[in-house]
Amino acid sequence: MTVEEALRYYGQEHVLKRCENLTAAEREELYARLSVLDWEMLTAWKRPENLKRGRISPISGLTKEDIAARREEYFRIGAEAIRAGKVAAVLLAGGQGTRLGSPAPKGMFNIGLTRPLYIFEQLISNLMDVVKAAGAYVPLYIMTSEKNDAETRAFFEEHNNFGYPQSEIKFFVQDMAPSVDFEGKLLFEERGKLALSPNGNGGWYSSMQRAGLDADMARRGVEWINVFAVDNVLQRIADPVFVGATIKSGLMSGAKVVRKCEPRERVGVLCLEDGLPSVVEYYELTEEMANERLEDGTLAYSFGVILNYLFHAKRLGEIAAEKIPVHVVKKKVPYLNEAGELISPQTENGYKFETLILDMVRLMGSCLPFEVEREREFAPVKNRTGTDSVDTARALLQKNGVQL
Ligand code: UTP
Repeated sequence: MTVEEALRYYGQEHVLKRCENLTAAEREELYARLSVLDWEMLTAWKRPENLKRGRISPISGLTKEDIAARREEYFRIGAEAIRAGKVAAVLLAGGQGTRLGSPAPKGMFNIGLTRPLYIFEQLISNLMDVVKAAGAYVPLYIMTSEKNDAETRAFFEEHNNFGYPQSEIKFFVQDMAPSVDFEGKLLFEERGKLALSPNGNGGWYSSMQRAGLDADMARRGVEWINVFAVDNVLQRIADPVFVGATIKSGLMSGAKVVRKCEPRERVGVLCLEDGLPSVVEYYELTEEMANERLEDGTLAYSFGVILNYLFHAKRLGEIAAEKIPVHVVKKKVPYLNEAGELISPQTENGYKFETLILDMVRLMGSCLPFEVEREREFAPVKNRTGTDSVDTARALLQKNGVQL
């Protein structure tokens, strides 16, 4: 289908009309965008069955006690894999951090009190702990978005990668997804520019492929990829014990989890869905399921995910072509009205489309839940104050001996 045909087929004739008033250069740029658009994604809001759930049941995993009993063995296996160059890390830093409300990329946020300590800096410092313990560097791939790529790269350069060798760091830019109004019409943020935003953290692998970095990993002999979020300042990256346990399990992926602190805690939980590992969101659990207990008295759905996954590289390549569910989110999207004025709506006016990394767990086919201690490994910076905020993360860092 040509761009024009696609626009007509998907009911986007208003775009053709808009093109009439664009300069040749503007039109060319817009067409370049449209030619790589995932048109099917645009219609996801019409298909709620896209996200229908199968039968949910509890999953068993390694508890903290299980891990403690075999820590040395797991560490040895994991550290060996790191030394052999089989482990890489992917930092997801393409989000917009709207809740934190800082215009800069989230990793540039200064979490220090008496000295500057940027989130990126803290993450590199956490990774260096592993480099020292295992005796080898872990290649680090950093995903940015079109909105924050230049700023992020410049920040790393300015700070000399916080001591991490240049040869071990590569950046790539995640794909963008368009926004539509409640009738499904593409919104514009400038005359010839679609309203675009990062397409969710589930797009990391396809974006890596587009950048040719899956081949780069294969060349380096990478077999395991540890993917993690930018905003957990206690994140343990390429943790050899986690790597070792996942390799030993023979499963295709692993997920770090923390025990939920109460049945209705707002965190996604790892479970089985029609027999396959899966993550369900807190709001998808019925009251009964949220409170269900196992024979030993623990909550049946208590493995909260913290966005730290280990994926088998070969399996990722195999599932790359499979469809990952598209989540449709209602948002306030600034847009140009027909008169060409930029409107910043006060209420939600459109849909954004996202894919989520947690949906990849199911596609991987098998997953090892790996329980870690919340107070030592989970300090997310989502909000400025209150729960999961700069304040709570600072307190947890201090508790773990980090000088702020
Ligand atoms: P969140 O879901 O917390 O989103 O991201 P966010 O954009 O950082 O923050 P809010 O919701 O706007 O306040 C979890 C992780 O996924 C990354 C984020 O950078 C973070 O590491 N992410 C999210 C991406 O890399 N790309 C995206 O499109 C979305």
